Amino acid sequence: MEKITKMHTFQDYVKAYQNTEKHNDDIWELFKDKVDSIQFLKNHRDDIEERLAGFGDRSFHFMWYLLLQELSTLHRDIQCLEIGIFKGQVISLWALIARELKIPIKTTGISPLDGNYPDILIFRNYYLRRILSLIIPSIKKDFKNGNIHIKEDFTKHIKITFEQSNLNLENVELIKGFSNDATVLSKVKDRKFDLVYIDGDHSYEIAKQDIENYTPLLNKGGFMVLDDSSYFSPGSKFFKGIESCSKAAEEIDPSKFKNVLNIGHNRVFQKL
Ligand SMILES: C[S@@+](CC[C@H](N)C(=O)[O-])C[C@H]1O[C@@H](n2cnc3c(N)ncnc32)[C@H](O)[C@@H]1O
Repeated sequence: MEKITKMHTFQDYVKAYQNTEKHNDDIWELFKDKVDSIQFLKNHRDDIEERLAGFGDRSFHFMWYLLLQELSTLHRDIQCLEIGIFKGQVISLWALIARELKIPIKTTGISPLDGNYPDILIFRNYYLRRILSLIIPSIKKDFKNGNIHIKEDFTKHIKITFEQSNLNLENVELIKGFSNDATVLSKVKDRKFDLVYIDGDHSYEIAKQDIENYTPLLNKGGFMVLDDSSYFSPGSKFFKGIESCSKAAEEIDPSKFKNVLNIGHNRVFQKL
């Protein structure tokens, strides 16, 4: 751990990275501490945690900080894409890091901007949920894959998340819909991205489709980050993600993508 505490750039962490239990645990802890040592990252994550406005781990904030810093060496607008926005934690964080580090970015977000289950059915009535899971297999599958989001006005929440950091949605394009929907795909098919975060539907089938559909849009040298994908990786201090989408991550062609770094259940792949 001594070895990695003094490092500063994304490349430093990549060079030192080892996919071992100790290294994965240590780097996850270290990145958490880094977030707490950088005031604007800390404030942002504190707000997300207080309002239950996002998923994932505190450590991921420092990973995004390093990734955008790394991409800033392109000296042009950085094109970022998130699949699965929820309440805007990640797209607002990108905007915040861009503002603080003076990096020009353009963000696209693809999400249904709506939940898939009524609150009363899923969260308020445990027994009803259990019974429905037995009768309707898709409910059981959605729970297993972490695909349960209560019906809410997500656009309103995204605006609030941005406002909490005095940000606006000026450089953000929100595409309402599912990532595998033909209309959604047609809106981005001619675009190129430097950073793609896949955090939408966590079933094997859709995670696999997202990887297949969106990696051709990634520039060479660009980064794809997969959420909840460390189920088969070593590590004991953090939640390792979901088996289904981790399986899709395991099947990524190593001749096309290098898995350069893993932070908790977020896996970072670079396009070769
Ligand atoms: C785990 S949440 C994302 C959390 C968010 N990235 C964050 O860090 O706070 C998953 C999101 O994906 C959305 N979603 C589900 N299926 C999707 C799909 N096929 N395409 C795009 N988004 C999807 C859900 O509505 C939800 O907003």
